[in-house]
Amino acid sequence: MKEALHESWGWSGMTKRIAVLASGRGSNFQAVIDAIRDGRVPATCVRLITDNPGAYAIERAKQAGVPCTIIDYTSFPSWDAYERALLPAMQDCNADLFVLAGYMRIVGKEVVKAFVGRMINIHPALLPSFPGLHGQRQAILHGVKVSGCTVHFVDESLDGGPIIIQQCVPVLKVDDEDALAARILDHEHRCLPEAIRLFCEGRLVIDGRRVRIR
Ligand code: GRF
Repeated sequence: MKEALHESWGWSGMTKRIAVLASGRGSNFQAVIDAIRDGRVPATCVRLITDNPGAYAIERAKQAGVPCTIIDYTSFPSWDAYERALLPAMQDCNADLFVLAGYMRIVGKEVVKAFVGRMINIHPALLPSFPGLHGQRQAILHGVKVSGCTVHFVDESLDGGPIIIQQCVPVLKVDDEDALAARILDHEHRCLPEAIRLFCEGRLVIDGRRVRIR
C-alpha cells in the first residue's frame, strides 16, 4: 500500500513543527538547530525532550531558546511507567515530526502507534547492518570496509523502519571505534538535517518498507 505522508499537511510553504528527543551530548540536535537557523530546513524546533537531566543537549536547548522537557528515566519505577509519561509529553508538543537524535531508549508500541510516519531516527551504521547499540564498534569488529549512517522512520522493530537516506563512510585500516565514530558523526550532522528537510517539504512517501523521495 502506498501511503503519501502528511497529505493533509503536505508541503504548503509553511514551516513544520519538529520536536527532538536526545539523551546525551546532543551534537545531532545542534546540527538540526543550526540547519533551521541557517534556513536549510523549513521548520521550527518547538521542544527538546530528554530522559536524562545530565544531558548536554539541555544546555544546547537553552542556548538556542528551545523549550525543554526533562523526563528523568531514573525517577520511574519501570520502563512502562516512563513510557506512560513520555507519550503525553510528546502529544503536548503538537509536532509534525519527532526526531530521535541520540535518544538512547527503546521506543514503545504506544508511542510508535501514536506517531506513525512522523518519527525518525539517526543511526550510526548502514542499516540493516549493525542495529542496536555500538554500531561503530560492530562495524570495526566485523571488519567491514564501508560503514556510515542511516536516517529511518521509526517502527516497532529495533532500528528496522523504512530507510530515508544513508551516507557511506570508508573504514580505514587504522580506525578504532572512536576514530570511525567521529567520521560517521560528521556525516550524521549532514544526513539528519537533510532528511528533516525532505520530510518538511512533503517529499517522503512510505511505500511498504521503502521510502520514495519525490
Ligand atoms: C550518534 O552517533 C547517534 O547516531 C547515536 O548516538 C550518537 C549521539 O550523538 N544514536 P549526539 O548526542 O547527537 O552527539
